[in-house]
Amino acid sequence: MLPEKRVIIREVSLRDGLQSEKEFVQTNIKLEVIRALAQAGVEYFETTSFVSPKAIPQLRDAADLMAHVERGNLKHEVLIPNLKGAQRALEAKADRLIVVVSASEAHNKANVRRSIADSLEELQGIFELAKTNNVPVAGVISVAFGCPFEGRVPRENVLNIAQHFIEKGADRISLADTTGLANPSQVEDMVSCFKNRFPDTLLCLHFHNNRGVAMANLYAGYLAGVRMFDTALGGIGGCPNVPQAAGNLATEDVVFMFQEMGIQTGIDLVKLIKAAKRLEKVLKHTLPGQVMKSGPSDPQLARQLCGIT
Ligand code: COA
Ligand code: ZN
Repeated sequence: MLPEKRVIIREVSLRDGLQSEKEFVQTNIKLEVIRALAQAGVEYFETTSFVSPKAIPQLRDAADLMAHVERGNLKHEVLIPNLKGAQRALEAKADRLIVVVSASEAHNKANVRRSIADSLEELQGIFELAKTNNVPVAGVISVAFGCPFEGRVPRENVLNIAQHFIEKGADRISLADTTGLANPSQVEDMVSCFKNRFPDTLLCLHFHNNRGVAMANLYAGYLAGVRMFDTALGGIGGCPNVPQAAGNLATEDVVFMFQEMGIQTGIDLVKLIKAAKRLEKVLKHTLPGQVMKSGPSDPQLARQLCGIT
């Protein structure tokens, strides 16, 4: 159990973020980003995915990246779409497997070319393999708050997929608002139903900012008792199967908010801002993060880091 005023920030820029970049980012740059984030205090990473390199060419260096990452207290979690991905991830010594199923048929088809039922069936082998290797598995439910193709997603569908994951052995579930359709009341309702039905399972929330409501959704999740959130440095990210996809909440924006509220993240904001600025240089386009532009609340630091006067 975490103390009341502490949250875990899970960094997804290396996977969710970089998979949406047009250009392949070199492995040594990815290693540099991980190093900078680790030095800022980030411990939880979604480091890459072991998917088809044809589907996501930006992450085709997954095995090489995992062979060179700094380990220590860092947790390198990786996304996998199928059994082959699980085998590759385990060979690469991933600390956790992340399996994804979408809450709508249309999005699941677009993402992994399978029906939800087929995806759920394939889980069995993945969980068995992970168990044999003593590696934990977390389940992610994409488009859990609304689907860009089908619209409304019934809450029961989301909770039923969560149940499948948990029955198979997932000890953590992430609910992802993949295309920024959630609102704070819906988040509050979803979290409270989830906690009632699965009181022993850790819940993580993942919000994209397509409609500007992501931070309000995250805070609604916090008030409802969630203590783990996915964010991405600089707010990078998107979804390869969704037009006009927007980024994740920026790690430095979320750390700023919690820090100002006296809620611990264990992450150094100044180091994060520097890492976000460096990432912007490397990616050669403006990133959506706000705090990397405006700086921390301390006027002197804001001036130093961002030239704000
Ligand atoms: N790792 C590496 N290669 C894989 C793979 C994996 N986990 N799974 C499948 N492949 C390869 C197969 O070997 C095959 O290669 P070949 O064409 O050289 O023979 C090819 O991919 C197609 O395999 P198949 O089993 O027919 O898969 P598919 O074409 O139905 O594609 C997925 C399904 C799931 C593999 C693919 O859509 C995928 O990787 N999606 C990932 C989506 C994603 O990451 N989305 C963002 C995160 S939410
Ligand atoms: Zn995402």
